[in-house]
Amino acid sequence: MPAPLHTSSMLKEGTFDGQTVVITGGGTGLGRSMGEYLLKLGANLVIGGRRQEVIEATAAELAQASGGQVLGVQCDVRQPEHVEAMLAAAVKKFGRVTGLVNNAAGNFICPTERLSYNAFNTVVDIVLKGSYNCTLAFGKYWIKEKIPASILNISTTYAWTGSGYVVPSAVAKAGVLIMTRSLASEWGKYRIRINCIAPGPFPTEGAWSRLMPPQLEETFDVKKKIPLQRNGEHQELANLAAYLLSDYAAYITGDVITIDGGEWLRGAGEFNGLEQVTHEEWDLLQAAMKPKK
Ligand code: HXC
Ligand code: NAP
Repeated sequence: MPAPLHTSSMLKEGTFDGQTVVITGGGTGLGRSMGEYLLKLGANLVIGGRRQEVIEATAAELAQASGGQVLGVQCDVRQPEHVEAMLAAAVKKFGRVTGLVNNAAGNFICPTERLSYNAFNTVVDIVLKGSYNCTLAFGKYWIKEKIPASILNISTTYAWTGSGYVVPSAVAKAGVLIMTRSLASEWGKYRIRINCIAPGPFPTEGAWSRLMPPQLEETFDVKKKIPLQRNGEHQELANLAAYLLSDYAAYITGDVITIDGGEWLRGAGEFNGLEQVTHEEWDLLQAAMKPKK
């Protein structure tokens, strides 16, 4: 049986031939999965992260599995000089860079009144300022060199709803979303597109260990929380990311695409909680409430 379409490769082989994409936080999780797919589609890949050993191991594994070219660079996105050095290393190795994925993030669950001042700074520095640092360094380079380019920001659905218990992340991801829309307008004239993905739950070690502890399993029951009743698959997110980065999406800029199985709308609709009412209970309710003719 062939793999279901949503876990299969969506774009044509060679879509990224001659292109070089940098993914921050590309050593693990969704960053790694997006990188793996871009390589398959012909891209040269650059991955950055704070832990050198993780970056080096992932770069070696991805290169070996794909036969493609991967450069791993130790880079803390909070440090502008690291970001500039990563860009310089990418240009040195591949000649030029054409895409950036602002994927690096930090997050944890915590009641806000228990947070220290520094906890907020830590998350905002990685997510919002880190994405800004990369966008600024790469944007200056593309504008100066007159290279058409594509940026993809990874936000979340609570960037617009907000969410308790992850306030630093919600604030930072909302900033990333607004940076996307702001720059899409300002940098369109340089042929720089900038889009955003808002994923719902996609299991990764990094997110699950910090946000979904097994003790709270019941709270995150996907059958109740998500209309499509499952978590996301990495390949379906990679398909969307590759599409938005690629020239197939040449007329799309400033948009945010939600990929969450309907999760945030389930939480938002006033009466969506009625999903828990059984057929038998509906029979009783309707018998009691429906006007009799
Ligand atoms: C309260 C915490 C905390 C916690 C850290 N802090 N963890 N406060 N609860 N669980 C506080 C610390 O006390 C400290 O403040 C400050 O935050 C910085 O912590 P450090 O450990 O010194 O920082 P650092 O080593 O830089 O680590 C950063 C990190 C860590 C964000 C705290 O979790 C990390 O490295 N994360 C990277 C990967 C990640 O988070 N992946 C998940 C992405 S998922 P003080 O005042 O004591 O100095 C995602 C969206 C998922 O973003 C949505 C799912 C649907
Ligand atoms: P992850 O594996 O923990 O990925 C986060 C990556 O960011 C790690 O590789 C981490 O590596 C890197 N990173 C953290 N701080 C950094 C810094 N200062 N500089 C450079 N790199 C840094 O988690 P993930 O689930 O794949 O998350 C990837 C993206 O998807 C994030 O933007 C996250 O907010 C978003 N997202 C995920 C989900 C989900 O369900 N998984 C849902 C919504 C949104 P180092 O620690 O080595 O630096």
